[in-house]
Amino acid sequence: MRAFEYQGAGGPEVLVEVDRPKPAAGAGEVLIKVAAFGLNRADVQQRRGVYPPPAGASDIPGLEVSGTIEALGEGTLGFTVGQNVCALLSGGGYAQYVSVPAGHVLEVPENVDVVDAAGFMEVAGTVVSNLFLEANLAPGETVLLHGGAGGIGSMAIQLAVAAGAKVLVTASSAQKIEHCLALGATAGINYREEDFVERVAELTGGAGVDVILDVVGAKYLGQNLRAMAVGGRLVVIGLQGGATGELNLGTLMAKRARVIGTTLRARPLEQKAEIVAAVKSHALPLLAAGALELSIDRRFPFTDTRSAHEYFDSGIHTGKIVVKH
Ligand SMILES: NC(=O)c1ccc[n+]([C@@H]2O[C@H](COP(=O)([O-])OP(=O)(O)OC[C@H]3O[C@@H](n4cnc5c(N)ncnc54)[C@H](OP(=O)(O)O)[C@@H]3O)[C@@H](O)[C@H]2O)c1
Repeated sequence: MRAFEYQGAGGPEVLVEVDRPKPAAGAGEVLIKVAAFGLNRADVQQRRGVYPPPAGASDIPGLEVSGTIEALGEGTLGFTVGQNVCALLSGGGYAQYVSVPAGHVLEVPENVDVVDAAGFMEVAGTVVSNLFLEANLAPGETVLLHGGAGGIGSMAIQLAVAAGAKVLVTASSAQKIEHCLALGATAGINYREEDFVERVAELTGGAGVDVILDVVGAKYLGQNLRAMAVGGRLVVIGLQGGATGELNLGTLMAKRARVIGTTLRARPLEQKAEIVAAVKSHALPLLAAGALELSIDRRFPFTDTRSAHEYFDSGIHTGKIVVKH
């Protein structure tokens, strides 16, 4: 089969199209003929050589795909050959075929374009696990989403609003804030022009936000703590602003606040299956009802995977980028 691999570490030029053996469906797995895969920041970090695949994962990049079931492994229940599905992977998505445990696969609802469904699983899994399973975001609470216009942010806005929360976002431009407001955010903060801690105080009547989903890390640690309400939960899922910061534990105690960190990719298979089950109950019904936008910014052809990475690197995208066969 055709696949892309990284030959060395660096820019999009290290992506090389190669021939690889077609995988087989092992016991409990489904073999998917890939229609499309979604791009994620982790793919870029892996390309740059700073985020190696976890033990046992394919060295072929790609954390999410959509496509058609080609074959079922021994003892695989709940799916049929020819069904349209999307899947969460620990790697291997940049290829014509991928095999994946059945517990990490969901059927694509009939009303959803199978190519666009490639952009669903990684963001939905990340958002559902962090906002709901980790931070217990409740109806009536306020959540602040950093990087609100990105792939994660676009999904998080919609799922938080659907859960009855009020959503504030940060983004780098008026056009990105417009995108967030269109998806249901109450207010956007242009972090290049405004102090987000001050704006959060204004927008919450001084109370602060109950939950923060953070993709920046160290650079925002102190500000995030100041922006949190009493009983607040800060979930760090990205380190675009560094990994080592200083935390005022006095403020943390006084606010009875919590700081949580997670990654999705390296979790044990059973935990991933639980998250996929939570996506099935929290997000899939909204998708099937047409109440959840997949927010696909651009679709690139497979042979143009390098261009997809160049576009991702430019940072001008909103929502998701997918690559289709
Ligand atoms: N822990 C996990 O399990 C997990 C899973 C999936 C993704 N993630 C992380 O989640 C983040 C978002 O991923 P994605 O795939 O949605 O990427 P994406 O589409 O590129 O979104 C990232 C967003 O972050 C914003 N951003 C970039 N640098 C920033 C900075 N220095 N300060 C503030 N905002 C900044 C960008 O928006 P602006 O232009 O508006 O700044 C961009 O929209 C990444 O850091 C990724 O590693 C973590």
